[in-house]
Amino acid sequence: MVNKEQDKLNKIIGFTKRRGFVFPSSDIYGGFGSVYDFGPLGVLMKNNIKKAWWDQMTKTEDDVVGIDSAILMNPRVWEASGHLGAGFADELVECKKCHHRFRKDFLEKNKCPDCGGSLTESKKFNLMMKTFVGPLEDESSVAYLRAETCQGIYVNFKNVMQSMRLRPPFGIAQIGKSFRNEITPKNFIFRTREFEQMEMQWFCDKKDASKLFDYWLDKRLSWYYDLGIAKKNLRVFKVPKKDLAHYAVKAADIEYKFPFGWKEIEGIHNRGDWDLRNHSKVSGEDLSVEGKYPHVIETSVGADRSFFAFLSEAYNEIEGGRGEKETETETVLNLDPSIAPIKAAVLPLVKNKKEIVVKAKEVYDLLKKDFHILYDESAAIGRRYRRQDEIGTPYCVTVDFETLDDDSVTVRNRDTMSQDRVKISDLTEYINIA
Ligand code: GAP
Repeated sequence: MVNKEQDKLNKIIGFTKRRGFVFPSSDIYGGFGSVYDFGPLGVLMKNNIKKAWWDQMTKTEDDVVGIDSAILMNPRVWEASGHLGAGFADELVECKKCHHRFRKDFLEKNKCPDCGGSLTESKKFNLMMKTFVGPLEDESSVAYLRAETCQGIYVNFKNVMQSMRLRPPFGIAQIGKSFRNEITPKNFIFRTREFEQMEMQWFCDKKDASKLFDYWLDKRLSWYYDLGIAKKNLRVFKVPKKDLAHYAVKAADIEYKFPFGWKEIEGIHNRGDWDLRNHSKVSGEDLSVEGKYPHVIETSVGADRSFFAFLSEAYNEIEGGRGEKETETETVLNLDPSIAPIKAAVLPLVKNKKEIVVKAKEVYDLLKKDFHILYDESAAIGRRYRRQDEIGTPYCVTVDFETLDDDSVTVRNRDTMSQDRVKISDLTEYINIA
């Protein structure tokens, strides 16, 4: 990675910890592999991303319903899905000198990237995370943490269809944790062993699959644009036949230009009838509809990975500041307001004038009924603005001396720094649509 890009990545990692977005897991024990926790602001932002996805799927789209299936499933599910076979295994090589392990397909040369040593022959390494269910730790109690959330959708296909009186075409959406024993987790929260997926499976007739593949690809691209990702930072990569996942007939990756290069954030897959056909065969339960297995178009995105993309897109450092009496570098997180962790901060201009503080608390109590709001009365107003810019708060609401006379406040916009005078009674609406 070029130094400038590495530098941006390191700055983002440092920023996320400093400002309560992402912490290394088990930090006081020195961390644990590539596992991360979301802090107070991180969880708000991630929840906003999940809500934006859920709303696109289950509110704005017709005929998409949601479910929340368990992480642990009957191990035969993974037999039927193909995940216990060679299709869900990476080629692993080991350096004969330093014994570091690598995914073969990630290496550019046939030498250890760490010490230059020679490498062993590759071995297949299955990515399923194994555990035991019940008191015995033997083969009969082996279970797996799910590697993709969509399997919970296929095994509930019939339950959903019958209970909701649906017939294909329709979709099922789900958000939840997935686990993969990745050989080389990498690049902060980009590739981890525990992550969250947002997946939707659209069940349709084979003859419509190709058209629907394009439909969902477009829909998903517009989701990113609507939430503030610049067109120049997104591209579509058509996956060549030889690189298709074991279940896919056709696939396109939506790629984002991360600080470390173009990488996949979402996969759109035509899974054919692979899943329903195999689950029918292995479970003995007929999942066909009028004698035919529905085909599946899948959209699959990581909540953590898209969080990282939104954060990378929004993170801006402005050398010399933005001219508000500041000469040092300022950080501004230009997040779309709908995914910003805090929607507005309420700031009394001074903290030693009782009437202003009382009024500011009133405004805070009013706004917190509808939004995540922060109250801050410490430090000079300019400094407080910059604190909010750094965490991406779109609006700062200042209660000043005039407020006591006219029941209006000053609303400062994070991106333009423009200030509007707004009546307190209009504030909720202003923040909601501005
Ligand atoms: N059900 C299809 C499926 O799981 P995938 O391409 O393996 O397809 C889909 O994964 C998305 O899940 C990826 O585009 C990525 O956003 C996320 N994802 C997959 N593995 C991940 C990992 N180890 N860490 C973080 N996110 C991951």
